[in-house]
Amino acid sequence: MWNVLVLHGPNLQLLGEREPETYGSADFNSLCQQIEHAAQSLGMQAENRQSNSEGALIDHLHAVRLSFDGVIFNPGAYTHYSYALRDAVAAIAIPVIEVHLSNVHAREEFRHRSVIAPVCAGQICGFGFNSYLLGLHALKMILEETSRESV
Ligand code: DQA
Repeated sequence: MWNVLVLHGPNLQLLGEREPETYGSADFNSLCQQIEHAAQSLGMQAENRQSNSEGALIDHLHAVRLSFDGVIFNPGAYTHYSYALRDAVAAIAIPVIEVHLSNVHAREEFRHRSVIAPVCAGQICGFGFNSYLLGLHALKMILEETSRESV
């Protein structure tokens, strides 16, 4: 069974009450539950962790680098300017997929650029909670492909 860290960045614990017109009205707990159920049905085990602080997010990435198989990462606003998070993603060998609830490319200009996406396996955005579920599917495909190649 693949072990997946689902890492949520700043302000995401306020889902449901935070700008519902952009992020929807369902709350963070229900997002985590949906992720865990979807992961199980894909034969994966997902662990959700959230932090508002850059250093704690870096620590989470370091902590799982040898014991987990991949990461689904929504870095929130850090996406657009955190070189420290970019370096942390680049420093670990397991695949990381960047996800966003909103379509960042259709929003303010500062959100169009991700400094983290270039060191990720890919980026999925604009599908609400489904961005995370699509991320799990993509990660599973990557892991299956890698394990086939290594046989
Ligand atoms: C977000 C998009 C970011 O630009 C924003 O700062 C967030 C949420 C998303 O999931 O759509 O906090 O990552």
